Amino acid sequence: MGLALAEKLLATGIAVTIAGRSAERLAQARAKLGNAPRLQTVAADATCEEDVVRLFSSAGDIDHIVSTAADVSGVYVLLPSMDISIARRVLDSKVIAPLLLAKHGAPRLTAGGSITFTSGIAAYRPAPKGTVVAAINGAIESLVYALALELAPIRVNAISPGWVDTPIWGSVAGEGAAVTLAAMAKRLPVGRVGEASDIAHAIEAVMRNGFISGTVVHVDGGQRLV
Ligand SMILES: NC(=O)c1ccc[n+]([C@@H]2O[C@H](COP(=O)([O-])OP(=O)(O)OC[C@H]3O[C@@H](n4cnc5c(N)ncnc54)[C@H](OP(=O)(O)O)[C@@H]3O)[C@@H](O)[C@H]2O)c1
Repeated sequence: MGLALAEKLLATGIAVTIAGRSAERLAQARAKLGNAPRLQTVAADATCEEDVVRLFSSAGDIDHIVSTAADVSGVYVLLPSMDISIARRVLDSKVIAPLLLAKHGAPRLTAGGSITFTSGIAAYRPAPKGTVVAAINGAIESLVYALALELAPIRVNAISPGWVDTPIWGSVAGEGAAVTLAAMAKRLPVGRVGEASDIAHAIEAVMRNGFISGTVVHVDGGQRLV
């Protein structure tokens, strides 16, 4: 989703910095984005405060901050098998990382700036083995409401994706990912699962609309209704 958003913003002439933990994966992302001159890549772990400080120290003034980071590998298990250190890692990537990005990024935001995080359908359609992700997605949404007040007039929002065909499904369902996604597509009112570009489109809309703050935008093909 982050890659799709970067592609969309670069196409409109906006300068974009993308961050991730792996220099190698960032180089692949840069190549996919056509080595765009307005693109910067920074290797940084968003759960590490030192890395987040370094990320912003080289950035100058910023108009918008978006986090789509999540490290969910190994977390989809029933409670008796749960390794709490894995639950903490997921919490770090989806809640603590956004907190750090807000803490160190907000002072650099220009007037009219915004912060957008990514929660998810699991908060509304929880399932066995999805306990940790359900709780974390709910936490992100409450974080957004509180930060929208504390950081005002900076706008703070979340996008809540439904099931979207991205590499995360390798961690969620392994080799069964395609079958699982196809079964969900049949159930959804829109008749398909999401594409990363669906989410990128919604994030861009929230970034640009100066009257949206403290809001969770659902981009889930109607999944909350089925
Ligand atoms: N896809 C879905 O069906 C779906 C549904 C509901 C919600 N969501 C949520 O939507 C968001 C985006 O998901 P996606 O499908 O685009 O996932 P993805 O393809 O797995 O991408 C997640 C990105 O996060 C980065 N990342 C993970 N931990 C990080 C850390 N500590 N610091 C910096 N970067 C980190 C990863 O890069 P590195 O590994 O290189 O660091 C990766 O590029 C996530 O919050 C996810 O939980 C997704």
